[in-house]
Amino acid sequence: MVRALHSARFERVHIMGWRPIIKSRRDWEDVVPHLHDYADVRAAFSWEKAFKELDGLPGGRGLNIAHEAVDRHADGLRRDHLALRWIGKTGETQDFTYARLRELTNRFANVLQQLGVGTGNRVYALTGRIPALYVTALGTLKHRGVFCPLFSAFGPEPLRARLAIGEAGVLVTTEALYQRKVAGIRDALPHLRHVLLIGDNHRPSHVPGTLDFHLAMEQASDRYTIGPTAQEDPALLHFTSGTTGTPKGAIHVHQAVVAHHTTGKLALDLHKADVFWCTADPGWITGTSYGIIAPLTNGVTSLVVEEEFDAERWYRILQDERVTVWYSAPTAIRMMMKGGVAPVHKYNLSALRFLASVGEPLNPEAVVWSLDAFGRPFHDNWWQTETGGIMIANFAAMDIQPGSMGRPLPGIEAAIVRNTEEGSVEVITDPDMQGELALRPGWPSMFRGYWNEPERYRKCFVDGWYLTGDLAKRDKDGYYWFVGRADDVIKTSGHLVGPFEVESVLMEHQAVAEAGVIGKPDPIALELVKAFVSLKDGVEPSEALRRELLGHARSRLGAVVAPKEIAFLPSLPFLPSLPKTRSGKIMRRLLKARELGLPEGDTSTLEN
Ligand code: WT7
Repeated sequence: MVRALHSARFERVHIMGWRPIIKSRRDWEDVVPHLHDYADVRAAFSWEKAFKELDGLPGGRGLNIAHEAVDRHADGLRRDHLALRWIGKTGETQDFTYARLRELTNRFANVLQQLGVGTGNRVYALTGRIPALYVTALGTLKHRGVFCPLFSAFGPEPLRARLAIGEAGVLVTTEALYQRKVAGIRDALPHLRHVLLIGDNHRPSHVPGTLDFHLAMEQASDRYTIGPTAQEDPALLHFTSGTTGTPKGAIHVHQAVVAHHTTGKLALDLHKADVFWCTADPGWITGTSYGIIAPLTNGVTSLVVEEEFDAERWYRILQDERVTVWYSAPTAIRMMMKGGVAPVHKYNLSALRFLASVGEPLNPEAVVWSLDAFGRPFHDNWWQTETGGIMIANFAAMDIQPGSMGRPLPGIEAAIVRNTEEGSVEVITDPDMQGELALRPGWPSMFRGYWNEPERYRKCFVDGWYLTGDLAKRDKDGYYWFVGRADDVIKTSGHLVGPFEVESVLMEHQAVAEAGVIGKPDPIALELVKAFVSLKDGVEPSEALRRELLGHARSRLGAVVAPKEIAFLPSLPFLPSLPKTRSGKIMRRLLKARELGLPEGDTSTLEN
């Protein structure tokens, strides 16, 4: 049973090949969207006013994300409201009210205090979606440490790189993950002073050189006063990938909470009675900004599901937990589409009010499918690790052009720009022209730097614009349409993968001379990581070697990052087998064109 969006079925007209989904007042008889009229709300908006919706630390001691997410509710009328409901792998649940979350995060802040961890020190977490992760994140923010989540499916090499770059001082992880992935790289991490282990099967952990997380929590006091926190104090470190070089650590400050809160309200339409489910893992920024912070600052109940995707399990959770607002991603939606609408219709999803999607292009077919399946369309929105929060969105009360990412949030100025020959950028004002998507800096959750890489940060800004690295178009109504990436980074199942990180690990293998890595189009995952490898002189390609390389990459990089396919390139005497520019850069664009049988485009810089 689904409660359908009234107008969608009746008022469809053809524009750009897909019928827009028209919204009307009849669609929100129960809950009036916060952003009820795009133009009005945008015109009246200012970040100063948005800031006033937050509390601030008592006694004017500044602004702290964890205070806004937890303590202000725990001190007020929502103290007994359910903040987090955790659903574990075996179906068991654990509930945390705002008051209980305050107590636990106070304890973790005290654990850091007692360990002598200083303000600004980086506290990393490497766990699945378990309650301790959420307590670690918010407790770290209370203590004014910098929280950095790591994705638990990463292999030892991506973990080592991220821990080393951010000079992690503390790591919270599980005993199993520590033994499998961290113990072997710990010697390479001189800054890592404290490792807190969550024992398996609720047993305390006794691994040498580590402390037991739960024991430390029990021994710590449950009272903690957050110290003075400036809006510009660093709070979060999120790694992302570029085309070349090491992963980049995007720094976000406590002021970001103004954007988390506002976008949760305006783009996800969070209302106090909502049960919200963000399916993303906190190892990626969506799972932190919207899986931890935004729902809590908005005072709603947030669902955390430990288990990975399974369509039927997800429908059952939506039904049983009476989820009202659901934030998911295109790869999952495409997998649900494969099963058709019949399995969805077995469940009573009448509580579901608003569906949103992020992370990769959402096909118009998926938007229209969700109307049939859930009686409501998925609302695509766009942002990136660097922007910290949603920048462009389809809003509850705004008509949807299926295939479009929507319109900029209030307080966000976006543009399509092009590079000029003089190295500056020029705004393209004509509609429907392709260019790079740019944003005017100044919103609260804009990244404030790449950790220890000022030069890389500086290069993101030209002529007063932040350049996003995405190609897009804007139509005459101000809707933005994603075209592709301007660089070679790969999006696979919603995860951003830097080709250089994969190439480097392949080249560690004694048989490999060189490697070039691309995203190969895939109907479900959007792209699959594919590697082209040239072998050292005297090494013959073989099926056994291919399997060995796949295995090597998987154990070093982890399943998400490792290539799914490896092709051997013919080795030609005295000639590089990978296409390269005269300055020696691998032309991944050409590898991709050849893989797809497409024209090779401009090859004037090609070496041979
Ligand atoms: C890149 C950012 C969104 C936060 C988590 C991922 C791509 C994001 C969309 C969308 C098409 C999208 C862009 C962007 N992307 N949203 N709605 N349609 N592409 O953050 O890992 O930093 O990835 O994801 O290419 O630049 P991220």
